[in-house]
Parts: sequence; structure tokens; C-alpha cells
Amino acid sequence: MAEATMEEMIASLKGRDFLALDDYTPEELLYLIDLAIDLKKKQKAGEVYQPLKGKTLGMIFEKSSTRTRVSFEVGMYQLGGHALFLSKNDLQLGRGEPVWDTAQVMSRYLDGIMIRTFEHRRIIELARGATIPVINGLTDLEHPCQVMADYQTVLEHKGRLKGLKIAYIGDGNNMVHSLMMGAAKLGMHISVASPEGYMPNAEVHRASKENAARTGGSVYVCQDPKEAIADADVVYTDVWASMGFEEEQQEREKAFRNFQVNEDLVKYAKKDYLFLHCLPAHRGEEVSEGVIDGPNSIIFDQAENRLHAQKAIMAALM
Ligand code: CP
Ligand code: NVA
Repeated sequence: MAEATMEEMIASLKGRDFLALDDYTPEELLYLIDLAIDLKKKQKAGEVYQPLKGKTLGMIFEKSSTRTRVSFEVGMYQLGGHALFLSKNDLQLGRGEPVWDTAQVMSRYLDGIMIRTFEHRRIIELARGATIPVINGLTDLEHPCQVMADYQTVLEHKGRLKGLKIAYIGDGNNMVHSLMMGAAKLGMHISVASPEGYMPNAEVHRASKENAARTGGSVYVCQDPKEAIADADVVYTDVWASMGFEEEQQEREKAFRNFQVNEDLVKYAKKDYLFLHCLPAHRGEEVSEGVIDGPNSIIFDQAENRLHAQKAIMAALM
């Protein structure tokens, strides 16, 4: 990219929300991934880099979290700023204060808001009401920060993204939606296998296909794990019952019976495939112990990169 264009792009990121990958161009996503790799190097070298000195991030959690909570809080600290953990039980939001009012009020105190919530429309409403950047820390529809870390990790291990094949086996949930859109934007090929009744959102499928047509990537959805995983460079799975769907656990265990990523299934992937999982994982359900704890698994590099990927997003937007 030409120098002026690059500068313009960096300037255009300031003040933006990070709600869904579809809101970003392939160039912007690649820039954020490169920035994450650069910030990781700085951190490992012990270099102090504090562009967010004096800034505060509010972190609203309407669902549980280990990685998102800790990585955003530590990331903000490392960038020189401060993060506030705001559980829904402690906020008036949890007692029915409108999202709009919450967004307006928080914008008077904070420099950014990270939120983990249920319906995606809640985050859209929050972003509409806020005058500061709003970052998606997971909704029922998308988990974009996770996917930035995921593709950073793949790039670090494979040296490229374009042209790689990623197979996602399992629930058509928030994870796969962001993975599909990210793969499409980055020129990767993604094949998804989900059981009937648990397929990815049709609109996300359509929109990601449209993006893939522009980047030379592809998006394919089927119901056969063997077909999806054939010759894959990256194999990804996630829990069968996401947060908010716990009461469906038993019926889901039946529906997903043939969708476990295990030693038999990964034989169909490339020999040097990488195994990824956003975590938390249920060993013996969506993935066998042998695969998740095996030599191809890079789940803890992946988890670490949440820190670096989100630092890049915060540094660029805030
Ligand atoms: N992967 C992920 O978002 O983990 P947490 O639910 O622990 O934040
Ligand atoms: N799909 C999972 C991801 C957790 C990080 C969930 O929404 O619970």
C-alpha cells in the first residue's frame, strides 16, 4: 500500500467501533494483525509502549469470561491505560437501565467500551448510543477479537494466510460466523461442517461468500465432517453448547455425536495441520484429548494472542 494511503487508513481507524469483521476491509484487518505481531515483539523485548496513557476502558460482562477479561485488562495496562471490570450484576444495566442511556453516560467517563453480551442488536444499540469506540468481546452472533488472534496465530505458524484451508467442525455459532467472515476477507478457504438444525447463520454465509468472491477465498458449508476437513491446513472446533444454550446440552450431545474432532477425523486433514480452539474446551465432547493436547495443537499460543490482537485493536481505535 502507498505511504499516503497507509496513513489515511491508520487515521480512519481512530474512533471506530469493532463490532464485526464485515465492518473492516481486508487491508485494515491485515494492518491490525501486523500491528499485533509488532506489539507482541515489543512486549517480549521488554519495550515500554504506552500510547493509551491516561485512557480508560470500561469492560461490561453479561456472560462469564477468563481470556477476554484478563487479556483486555492486562492489554490496557500494558498500553499505559486503565480498565474497569463492570459485571452486569453491578450495573444498573442489569436492573433494566436502557442500553442507550448507559452508552451515553459511559461516554462521559470512558475512552472505550468492551462488551460481552447476548443478542448482537444490544451491541449495535450500545455503539449507536456511545460517542467512544465500542469493541465486541463476544455476542451470540460474532466473536471478532477471537478471530483476529486466531488468524494472527495461523500467520505466525504458517507464514501466510491467503490460500490456506481452514475446516470448522461443529456448532454454527458466533465463532464460526467470525471465522467465515475473517477467512473470506483474508482470501482463505473455509469449509464448515455442522449438523442439521445447527448450521451457521444464512445471512453471514451469504455475506462471507460475497467477500470471498472478491479476495479469491471461498466459503463452503456442509453436514459432513470428513468432507469439510479434507486436506485442511487448520482445524477448528468449539463447544457444542455455547453460553446461554446450556439447557440444550443433552439434545446437542446427540445431534453432534458424529462431529467430534478426534484422531480418526484429523487423518483427513493435511499432515502438518494446526489445531485451534477458542477455549474453554470440553475434552471428550467436541474434541478428543489426543487432538487438543497433541503435537498439532497450538491452543495456548492462540490464547496468548488474544492479548496482542486486542492491544492492536485498542491502540488503533482508541
Ligand atoms: N475464548 C474466549 O473468549 O474465552 P473466555 O470466554 O474465557 O473469554
Ligand atoms: N461459542 C462459545 C465461545 C466462548 C468463547 C460461546 O459463545 O460460549
